[in-house]
Amino acid sequence: MDNFNFHKPTAYYFGAGRENEVGSIVKNLKVNKVFVIYGGGSCVRSGLLQRVEKSLAQEGIEFVSKGGVEPNPRADLVYEMIDYGREQQVDFVLAVGGGSVIDTAKAVAIGILDNGDFFDFFLQKRAPTKALGIGVVLTIPAAGSEGSNSAVIQKEVDGNVLKCGLSHAFNVPVFSILNPELTKTLPAYQTACGVVDMMAHVMERYFTNTPEVSITDRTCEAVLCSIVETAPRVIHDPNNYEARANIMWAGTLAHNDICGVGREQDWATHALEHQLSALYDVAHGAGLAVMFPAWMEYTMAHNPMRFAQFASRVFGVSMDFEDPKRTAKAGIVALRSFFKSLGMPLNFEQIGASIDDIPKLLKLLYLSKKSVGNFVHLTPEDCEAIYKIAATYKD
Ligand code: NZQ
Ligand code: ZN
Repeated sequence: MDNFNFHKPTAYYFGAGRENEVGSIVKNLKVNKVFVIYGGGSCVRSGLLQRVEKSLAQEGIEFVSKGGVEPNPRADLVYEMIDYGREQQVDFVLAVGGGSVIDTAKAVAIGILDNGDFFDFFLQKRAPTKALGIGVVLTIPAAGSEGSNSAVIQKEVDGNVLKCGLSHAFNVPVFSILNPELTKTLPAYQTACGVVDMMAHVMERYFTNTPEVSITDRTCEAVLCSIVETAPRVIHDPNNYEARANIMWAGTLAHNDICGVGREQDWATHALEHQLSALYDVAHGAGLAVMFPAWMEYTMAHNPMRFAQFASRVFGVSMDFEDPKRTAKAGIVALRSFFKSLGMPLNFEQIGASIDDIPKLLKLLYLSKKSVGNFVHLTPEDCEAIYKIAATYKD
């Protein structure tokens, strides 16, 4: 196991109705004015935004609110929100929504206190030196941004849409409120995209070259098994509170790094997928459902036993010790069929992508990344081959 630091000081408030406590939670932080950021309106239609604002008002906390964050969030709105937040002299940012809203809030919280272009941080040109605190009221279990140190924003630079991530301690929320009831209004497709994303967050950590990491292997497997068991219940019985609750906490554990400490992590599939989101505006989870099995097929030969272990422990495939490749392949089949059962796409055609765009995807990939993958260090030729598997896979 590798040496590691683990410091994730987010306070979690989990359960039905907990968003009504946001006012008292913020009051304890001694902030003067809160910037409430939300998305395209689902939280307005459900009444959540009004409840959050009421709770802040009841505690006498000043706030301003601004919506309009779109999935695969854009830098343009971040710039607008930075200006507005400065004008309003806010000193805390509260995200009410999913990964796109939270990541926008994270970028705003860093950008407000910086004199330059906030996107420099996402292009790794500079490192942030200060940031406002952020809080979260989560509405979709998926990106794990409520507990992660990352934010992902896209921006058009010289005619190319770059989707870039920033990992920094400033991105870790001060608190996150998780009410599973709020996720009952999610369309089945969004629920399924979230399930794929959280599984991908665990799998990016699972496929590692670090030896002797049985504690995190088993943690990863526990989270994955629980998701595989619970996701069909959430899809077929969307009002099931207990199933929603288990999926919601799984989404946080999948990406707060409890599954990833002490081991090398891969992250090639996220890099490959982010270019699909950038080029086609596809939902991140849907892109991952297409890309993850393709990456697995391509890299399996690097360590068939690890893939066989995944197949056997997560999907119950019986282990063929004579020929672990056979078990490994059966695991990839099981993963694809699980994604399909959730209504997820499995190839380029099903997400409106084209094999002819692979050169464009590769260009975007290497504009936003210096290297791709750690389990296997992928060359541009490797990435091209993986995109081709994803493009040509026949269901
Ligand atoms: O905008 P509204 O109207 O709220 O609608 C959203 C949006 O259309 C809707 N939604 C959210 N909660 C809802 C709801 N609809 C009904 N009822 C509710 N309770 O769902 C749609 C998707 O929302 P979004 O925030 O985009 O989803 P998600 O949480 O999957 O976030 C995706 C973004 O996060 C990034 C992705 O790349 C993508 O840009 N990621 C961020 C990470 C991080 N910060 O750590 C890690 C991830 O790997 C990922 O890259
Ligand atoms: Zn993800």
